[in-house]
Amino acid sequence: MATENSPRKILVTSALPYANGSIHLGHLVEYIQTDIWVRFQKMQGHTVHYVCADDTHGTPIMLRAEKEGVTPETLIANVHQEHSADFADFLVQFDHYYSTNAPENKELSQGIYKKLKANGKIATKTIEQFFDPVKNMFLPDRFIKGECPKCHAKDQYGDSCEVCGATYNPTELINAYSAVSGAAPVRKETEHYFFKLSECEQFLKDWTRSGTLQGEAANKMGEWFENGLNDWDISRDAPYFGFEIPDAPGKYFYVWLDAPIGYMASFKKLCADQGLDFDEYWKKDSSTELYHFIGKDILYFHALFWPATLEYSEHRKPTQIFAHGFLTVNGEKMSKSRGTFITARSYLDHIKNPEYLRYYYAAKLNSTMEDIDLNLEDFVARVNSDLVGKYINIASRTAGFINKRFSGKLNPSVNHAVVAEIKGSAQVLVDSYTEREYGKALREIMRLADIANGFVAEKAPWVIAKQEGQDVLLQQVCSDALEMFRLLTLYLKPVLPKLATEIEQFLNIAPLTWAAVDATLEANHTINAYEHLITRVDVKQIEAMTEANKENLQATTAPQSHSEQRHAAHQQNEANTAATEAEYISIDDFTKVDLRIAKIVDAEHVEGAEKLLKLTLDIGEDKPRQVFAGIKSAYDPMALVGRLTVMVANLAPRKMKFGMSEGMVLAASDERGGPFILSPDVGAQPGMRVK
Ligand code: 2FM
Ligand code: ZN
Repeated sequence: MATENSPRKILVTSALPYANGSIHLGHLVEYIQTDIWVRFQKMQGHTVHYVCADDTHGTPIMLRAEKEGVTPETLIANVHQEHSADFADFLVQFDHYYSTNAPENKELSQGIYKKLKANGKIATKTIEQFFDPVKNMFLPDRFIKGECPKCHAKDQYGDSCEVCGATYNPTELINAYSAVSGAAPVRKETEHYFFKLSECEQFLKDWTRSGTLQGEAANKMGEWFENGLNDWDISRDAPYFGFEIPDAPGKYFYVWLDAPIGYMASFKKLCADQGLDFDEYWKKDSSTELYHFIGKDILYFHALFWPATLEYSEHRKPTQIFAHGFLTVNGEKMSKSRGTFITARSYLDHIKNPEYLRYYYAAKLNSTMEDIDLNLEDFVARVNSDLVGKYINIASRTAGFINKRFSGKLNPSVNHAVVAEIKGSAQVLVDSYTEREYGKALREIMRLADIANGFVAEKAPWVIAKQEGQDVLLQQVCSDALEMFRLLTLYLKPVLPKLATEIEQFLNIAPLTWAAVDATLEANHTINAYEHLITRVDVKQIEAMTEANKENLQATTAPQSHSEQRHAAHQQNEANTAATEAEYISIDDFTKVDLRIAKIVDAEHVEGAEKLLKLTLDIGEDKPRQVFAGIKSAYDPMALVGRLTVMVANLAPRKMKFGMSEGMVLAASDERGGPFILSPDVGAQPGMRVK
C-alpha cells in the first residue's frame, strides 16, 4: 500500500445488478455506500476509477426476453438505459457503466478460461440434470416445481418450500414439472466443465489471512474451509444466453464465471476511452489497489471463486472485499403487500430528492455485515431535523444579513474558536470515511452542526441587526457562521454532492476538496444571493409512495426463496417468466390455508410498536400461539380477551422486531374503516377448522 502522501491508484467496483429487474432501495444501499467512498477518496486527491456493469447472462434473462417477444440483446439494452438513469439520478457516479455482454468481456473470459486450463485447473465431468423434453433444455433448480416432499404443499420450487421452509434437491420433489413448459422433466446426462476449487484451498487460506476480509467474512470462510471446497461447475448447455466456451461447442460459461470478469471488462473499456493502462491495474504484481463492494449474499463468489480465478489466470487479487448487510424496511423484509418493495424510480417520483436517502443510508451504515433498517418514520424525522433543522439552518439564519446589509461581502474573525474546533475534527472524519464508518462520521458532523447552531443562537444576529452601530459585529458573526457552514459542507460532500455543488455556487468558491479544510473564507470575499436550498420531507409523500407500491399478494406468484431479498426482484422475474398468473385459485390452493377458530386468551400492547397488539391464541394445541396483529388502532386489548376469532394456523412463523409471530388473525378493512376482526357464530370452539 502507498504511504500517506504518495498518490494512490485505486479501482473500485460495486456488484453488477442483474439485467432483468429494476433497481430498488435494497440495491441502492450498496451503490450509495460505494459512491460515498469513491467520492471521499477522490476528494482526498487520489486517482480513483469506479466501474460497474449490468449482469446480463443466464437462463432467466433468456426466458424473459422470449416471453416478451424480443431478443435478449434488446431486453438488456433497454434495462441498461433504465439502470443508468436510475444510478445517475441517485448521484451514483460511475466512471464507466458497461454490460457483461460486451466484446471485451468475451475476450477476457475466454482468455482467463484458457489460462486456467493451461494451469491444470479445469476438469470435465458427466453429471445428471433435469431436462425439459418439450423445451429441449436443461432446467435450473428454480425452474422445476412440484409437491414438497416434507409437507406436500403443491407448486413448490426445486430448491425450497415456501410453506414449510424445507430445503431439498429438485430430484426429491413429488410430481415435478417444468415451470417453463409444464412438462414432466426427465433426467439426462451431460458433460460439464469444472473449475478445480478443491485444489485452491491452501492458496485461499493464505489469501484470507492477508487482511483482505472483514472479521465476520473471514469467519464465514473458516466454516467453508471446514466443510471442504467443492469443484465449481462453470458450464451450462445450449440454449443459454452467454459466451461459448472455447473448443466446447454447445457449452456456455455459467453467468457467475463471466460476471466478475465484467469488472475487468468495464475497466478495459474505460482504459480504451481514456488512455489508461489496463495491465497496470490487473497484472500479477500490481501496486495499484482494487476494492470490491458487495452484499454478504455473494461473499462466496467474491472470496472463493474470484480470487482463485484471478490467481490461476495470473492476475492480481483484490486488495479488500467490503461486504455489507441487507436492507430491511420498517424492521422487516421489503414486501410488496406492505408497499415497502420500492423501486429507485418510485422513490424519485414521490420523494424527489435522492440526497435524503443517501443521507439516511449513510447515517445507518458502518463497516460490518449487519443489516440496516430504513424506518420510514425515522427517515422523515432525521432528514428534517438533521439536514433542514441543523445544517441548512446555519446558512439560512445568517446569509440574508450578509447579502442585504453588506452586499454579499464577508468579514470573518481570525482563528475563531468554533471554526478551529470544526477544523479539528477533520482527521476523525477522514478515518471514519476511510473505514466505511459513515454513521460515525455523520454523528460527528451533526455534533459540530449543533455547536455551530449554538454559536448562532448565542450571538443572535437577528437581535444585533436591530442595534445601532453594531454592523461590524453583525458582519463578523454571520461571516463566521458561513465559514462553519462551508466546513460542514465539505465534510458532507461525499454524501450530499449535489447540495454541496449548489452551496459552492452560493458561497462563490471552487469545488471543495479535502485540502480546503485548511483554507478559509477571506475578508472581502463576496458570496452570491442565498436561495432556498432544501425542503422538508412530508409524511404524506411517504404514505403516497408505499400506497403506490402496494400489490395484492394474492394476485401474484411472488416467490420468496431461501436466498436473500437482495435477489427478490431477480426471483420475481424468474417466477413471472415461469408461471402464468391465474385469475382463480384451485381448491387445492384453498385447502392449503389452515384456518382455525382461535380463542384470544390474552391481549396486550407492545412497547414501541405503533400498530401492533400481541395476542395469545388458543387453537386447541398444547401450547398457545403468539401472534402480532396490526389492530391496535381499533381495539382495546382488554376488550378482546375471551373472544373467539379466526386465524391462519399454518402461516410460516415470522420473526418480527418484537418476537415470533406464529400465525395471522383475519380482519377486514378498506377505506370505509377497520380493521374489524372476524368472529364465528355461537357454538364454534377453539381449534375447529374453517373450511
Ligand atoms: O447477485 C447479483 O445480483 C449478481 N448479479 C452480482 C454479480 S457481481 C459480480 F460478480 F459480477
Ligand atoms: Zn413443505
